[in-house]
Amino acid sequence: MAGNSLGSLFRITTFGESHGKAVGVLIDGVKPKLAISEQDIQKELDRRRPGQSSVTTSRSETDQVHILSGVFEGKTLGTPICLLVWNKDQKSNAYDAIKDLFRPGHAGYTYLSKYGIQDYRGGGRSSGRETAGRVAAGAVAMQVLAKRGIRIIGYTREVGTISARKIDYGEIEKNPVRCPDPEAAKKMVRKILKVKKAGDSLGGIVEAVVKNCPAGLGDPVFDKLEADLAKALLSIPAIKGFEIGSGFAATKMMGSEHNDSFYKERKTGRIRTKTNYAGGILGGISNGEDIVVRVAVKPPSSIPKAQSTIDLKGRSRKITVEGRHDPCLCPRVVPVVESMIALVLADHLVRQEMLRPRDSLAAVRKRIDFVDDMLMVLLGQRQDLVREVGRLKKSRNVPISDPRREREIIRKRLSLVSDANLDPGFVRKVFQAVFQDARKIQKNV
Ligand SMILES: Cc1cc2nc3c(=O)[nH]c(=O)nc-3n(C[C@H](O)[C@H](O)[C@H](O)COP(=O)(O)O)c2cc1C
Repeated sequence: MAGNSLGSLFRITTFGESHGKAVGVLIDGVKPKLAISEQDIQKELDRRRPGQSSVTTSRSETDQVHILSGVFEGKTLGTPICLLVWNKDQKSNAYDAIKDLFRPGHAGYTYLSKYGIQDYRGGGRSSGRETAGRVAAGAVAMQVLAKRGIRIIGYTREVGTISARKIDYGEIEKNPVRCPDPEAAKKMVRKILKVKKAGDSLGGIVEAVVKNCPAGLGDPVFDKLEADLAKALLSIPAIKGFEIGSGFAATKMMGSEHNDSFYKERKTGRIRTKTNYAGGILGGISNGEDIVVRVAVKPPSSIPKAQSTIDLKGRSRKITVEGRHDPCLCPRVVPVVESMIALVLADHLVRQEMLRPRDSLAAVRKRIDFVDDMLMVLLGQRQDLVREVGRLKKSRNVPISDPRREREIIRKRLSLVSDANLDPGFVRKVFQAVFQDARKIQKNV
């Protein structure tokens, strides 16, 4: 009956209402000895919290997370983890004047129909504030994914009719709309502020890309990976649509265009596809390509513009929703989307481990193979740069050998050995070999 939990083995339950004492989450199924700190979680919550910029609500919550259980001396215990965020800046009396009115686009009427009672203050449980618990749990899931090299990047793709024309991940956190195209971002901000001034709001599209997801996640037939992603993402308040890969555009393509051709990557031996219309999932199972999803974010319902509605007795009334609301939800939805994806993937990773335990010799060797493949790609990238430096040195008559730079590189890397759990002697040896090879390459450019 209750729908407050998500996931089967890595499972979360969120709790709290917008104007109650607190919101939060209980996470079960996190393995012991995972390093977790309040700072890791706080970093993600800060990206979701209100009051970040002129294009988000001015409700001023610090959203300080408290770890109540499940973590000891910075490591998970394997027991339930409870994360709590106190509500501090509710200003509930702003809702007194409209408490008997059904706010258009809000869940007051449906909550009342279902439960026969509702906390009308700030949307109660249906509020975007509930997503603080999701983001806190998502931060824990992201630590699980980071251990496997999996990364999730979310961004605002469209606001109203303005679209990002280029995708530069480095730009996302540099502008208030979290758009990867700085030029489009400026237009989006201008448009949002204009619409806000007119007492209205705007919708948009948030896109997310999952990098390095291994092939094999997803449980056909009812728990296909895209089905679980769709459910998780559509459960975010204000999300009206879900697409994966080519999405609805697939309806206008031919099979010959849409089929992603397979090939074997020369450098790594990995099975890849030349295009990615599938969006990284085939038959409900990840195929190792980037997982690409998009969600439609509706224009937020709370607007100062006068709208018609009815009161609890069914009488016609006019309503203007004053107070502190987001004129466009996309920038705040981005971290929520990333978190929901992280939660689904963390759950499916644990499920896959149950099916094919990772600690069998073959499975561990497969993981080593994957790391070695990545090392090969990185070494190739380093050599390309070494050649470029060699050409620059030659054109400027700079000597190839540079012992000071080599010492500096080793010093920097040695400062990281304890974090990476590496032996300093080994790191020194590896870099000396790398330098020897680099000198040889530069002599021949
Ligand atoms: C992070 C976040 C913040 C939100 N803030 C607002 C807001 O300020 N004003 C508003 O009208 N809706 C806001 N919403 C959306 C409403 O909670 C949601 O539209 C409403 O509860 C009705 O649910 P539905 O749109 O999913 O049907 C927010 C959603 C999220 C995810």
